[in-house]
Amino acid sequence: MVDEALGGSGPGEGPVNEGRRRFLTASTLVVGAVGAGITAIPFIKSWNPSARAKLAGAPVTVDISALQEGQRLIAEWRGQPIWIVKRSKAILEALPTLDDQLGDPESENADQQPAYVLESNRELRSIKPDISVLVGLCTHLGCSPEMVAEIRPAPFDANWKGGYFCPCHKSKFDMAGRVYSGVPAPNNLLVPPHYYADDNTIVIGVDPEGAA
Ligand code: FES
Repeated sequence: MVDEALGGSGPGEGPVNEGRRRFLTASTLVVGAVGAGITAIPFIKSWNPSARAKLAGAPVTVDISALQEGQRLIAEWRGQPIWIVKRSKAILEALPTLDDQLGDPESENADQQPAYVLESNRELRSIKPDISVLVGLCTHLGCSPEMVAEIRPAPFDANWKGGYFCPCHKSKFDMAGRVYSGVPAPNNLLVPPHYYADDNTIVIGVDPEGAA
């Protein structure tokens, strides 16, 4: 499973290095199905640069045409997992209800996302409403959190509205990557620079033309 391959390790086991090691041994581009009833995992076509180019930070182009609602696609850019998630209407509607539980609901820390992803809707932290693009590393010590996208009680939160849970030290983020208050992670998950070359093609690592 994708989340098992990318999940962090426990406290005291060197979570940063172990988490990253697990990530780097995983496929560079995979898709995880979320929620009951999704069984098909489509093959996602994409172009990726050479390993040397990726280490140098070359942009990565990802085809999201087969990405279905509730699925996550994981690409790699600069050695980091990049999550591309197609969020459901229910998830989008739940996000604004979480603000009073979050550490930075308005994404005021400008280091955590490019300004253009906030222009259409701050709470969604995305260029397109349904498509979320995040760096999948916890802002505490760098473990890769688990995606728990279903809106239903979770062992770590009885009122869970979907999001990401970092098992290393129990940080929580919503489905826009906004960090909950009172957890070790200090910041929202990072949104990488990216733009849409067309409706179904995202280029990771480059700002849109004309972006401030
Ligand atoms: S690495 Fe500590 S909570 Fe995520």
